[in-house]
Amino acid sequence: MPLDTAAIRRQFPIFREEHPPIYLDSAAMGQKPANVIDAMDTYYRLAASNVHRGMYALADEATNRYEASRETVRAFIAAKHRDEIVFTKGATESINLVAKTWGKANLKKGDGVVLSILEHHSNIVPWLQLKEEIGISLRWIDMEEDGSLRMADIDAALKDGKAKLVSVTGLSNVLGTLPPLSDIIERAHRAHALTLIDASQLIAHRPIDVTELNCDFLAFSGHKLFGPTGIGVLYARSPLLSKIPPFLGGGGMVQRVTREEFLPADPPAKFEAGTPPIAEAIGLKAAIEWFTQYPWKDIEAHEHALLAHAIEKLKAIPSLRILGPASADEVAGCVSFTIEGVHPHDLTDILGRQGICLRAGHHCAQPLHERLDIGASTRLSVSLYNTPEEIDRCAEEIRRAIAKLKK
Ligand code: ALA
Repeated sequence: MPLDTAAIRRQFPIFREEHPPIYLDSAAMGQKPANVIDAMDTYYRLAASNVHRGMYALADEATNRYEASRETVRAFIAAKHRDEIVFTKGATESINLVAKTWGKANLKKGDGVVLSILEHHSNIVPWLQLKEEIGISLRWIDMEEDGSLRMADIDAALKDGKAKLVSVTGLSNVLGTLPPLSDIIERAHRAHALTLIDASQLIAHRPIDVTELNCDFLAFSGHKLFGPTGIGVLYARSPLLSKIPPFLGGGGMVQRVTREEFLPADPPAKFEAGTPPIAEAIGLKAAIEWFTQYPWKDIEAHEHALLAHAIEKLKAIPSLRILGPASADEVAGCVSFTIEGVHPHDLTDILGRQGICLRAGHHCAQPLHERLDIGASTRLSVSLYNTPEEIDRCAEEIRRAIAKLKK
């Protein structure tokens, strides 16, 4: 069934404003439906209390709400057990957790970590830090001109048996391309390497079933799924979390502490030191409940139509070059482009003044931009609340801005 965009937009306070923005930057941050804001507001107003500590009703209530969110996340990504879900600050922290715990405990000098050229800095820098620290080697999967990954590079990277992890994005935050995850995971496992999926973008555009995918780790942030900032998820297949050392030390992550030593708690508490993001977990639960009102096939069809429309409009603009496949059938969520003689920051500055929100720069994917031989690009990203009319207006204003900047 086609999505009722007008009804969807009414659920977002920002789109009920008299002059709402033309928001085409959901790849950076999803807008927030009222139920997410209300759920967090109610917690702060009526149910604020710490979790896993107090013996009174309010504390029980907070603990129940926090743990109910873990269960909602588990079901959303089809994990087998709630204990496989760790709450973090965001996808970046989730990936850092893996690098700084599993990585430090399991990798030694000369071991390899395989990354794709599509990766966001959050899935590059933690591994570069390990390279500096212990001398691991990073092995790169390159891409074809259309943005598809060179599968032969994966096999080459895994051939000597020294690669211990393949860590790739599920959806490029620049090109919108979707690496073939099942195939990559199978190849990695055949070579006895573990797999980490950066699902930061994928999470809001495709259903994810970690059990069927058979990935070892998966990371995402709440804010791209219309949830709050400050919360993310690390999924780790059982019993991985029991075998790796804790990340941050503090209250809540221990069974017992003496003056000499400590005994870590079982996962996931072992990885959730200190007061966790309780209101944010409650907000994330509300966001997932909001999202799951709509069948994935309707979300995908709506976003496909928006991207097809955007690509058609952008292609018709002289001197504009779309990066990647330039086909809505091969991308999800976003499309990026360059315009000869126009800097992306100048373009998005002019558009921003008209209330049109696009992102410009390297989108925290500098190696990809270097591979494309460009310093920066402009990205247009869509979500289920966008309309074709917004795309039309954006394309029109891009034409105007070009005329102004090239005068
Ligand atoms: N990672 C987010 C983006 O691509 C912030 O814009």
